[in-house]
Amino acid sequence: MNVLGIETSCDETSVAVLKFSQGQIKLAAHLVSSQVKLHARWGGVVPELAARRHTEVIIPLLDTTLKKARTTPAKIDLIAVAAGPGLITALQVGVETAKTLALAWKKPLVGVNHIAGHLVSPFLATSSWPLANRKTTWPAVALVVSGGHTELHLIKSLGQQRLLGRTLDDAAGEAFDKTAKLLKLPYPGGPQVAKLARLGDPTAFVFPRPLIKNSNYDFSFAGLKTAVLYQVQKLKNITPQTQADLCASFQNAAVEVLVSKTLRAAREHKAKTIIVAGGVSANHELQKQLTAAAKLLRPAPGTLFPDSEFTGDNAAMIALAGAIEANKRGLKPYKNGWRTTQAQANWELWQ
Ligand code: KG4
Ligand code: ZN
Repeated sequence: MNVLGIETSCDETSVAVLKFSQGQIKLAAHLVSSQVKLHARWGGVVPELAARRHTEVIIPLLDTTLKKARTTPAKIDLIAVAAGPGLITALQVGVETAKTLALAWKKPLVGVNHIAGHLVSPFLATSSWPLANRKTTWPAVALVVSGGHTELHLIKSLGQQRLLGRTLDDAAGEAFDKTAKLLKLPYPGGPQVAKLARLGDPTAFVFPRPLIKNSNYDFSFAGLKTAVLYQVQKLKNITPQTQADLCASFQNAAVEVLVSKTLRAAREHKAKTIIVAGGVSANHELQKQLTAAAKLLRPAPGTLFPDSEFTGDNAAMIALAGAIEANKRGLKPYKNGWRTTQAQANWELWQ
């Protein structure tokens, strides 16, 4: 089965062709057009500009992706599009493009939840795909950490998940981005904070670890961001070293909360694997601390992160999530997808 994936939920336009057959996957082509430069001068994503740029680039990107995959519309068996959650006008560009293609090419269409895409992203690497079908992988606990979401899921098997907890206010990536803004670092802030943190002392400032002792699996990052704000206001002179110390201390607090809650969920649910996905899963400190902490559990669960190419938003993960769905239910339910698929800005995975 050849799956065409489309992703436009935020500020990346992405198209991919994934070949899915006899338990094997092969990414035939995968392109991402990032809008980072477009939004940088505004310090954040401007929804109207994002949607306009998606509209401009999606068709040329589709054309190039099909050529790179050395395939034609006739050889596509399923179209998978990210239908939510995300920015509504941005999502609509991908969804309406996918619906038009599905009608014109007479192809089944499946609307994929963007978070379900992130959850399968670690399996896009050829080396980790075999783990997806191994009994020794499941159950898994998965932490999705992105600019819009921070969620912990219990996964029984690929595509079968239950929400354990989520952020009550800001997402982890949002906290990184807002901290970067406070420190006047360029957009997008997460990678900048992570970069500067390497030069700083993580114990220089003591920031709160919100909800770390709470017995549920929910998170809260708004207070942590405010604590950084108060600290910045107190400091008269912020030298480059103070800036690095602030980044390192903030990152340390955020990572400690993420690791602590994820590890407790893994222990309490006897997880055999810990999966981390979403933009913030690219954070080296998070990867390092989580891997080290998991090794101390008995029995120790494996840890799985996406390849760096797949930590951010991409259409390959949407194609894979769509393929898994169609593999479970067959293509028939998606035959009239062009009629029924709608963009849903607030589509939560557990609803
Ligand atoms: O998954 P993603 O690309 O888009 C959303 O669905 O939100 O995640 C983007 C988020 C941004 O907040 C960005 O600052 C953050 O991921 N991010 C990082 C790192 N790389 C990206 N945060 C911390 N450390 C990083 N290395
Ligand atoms: Zn995302």
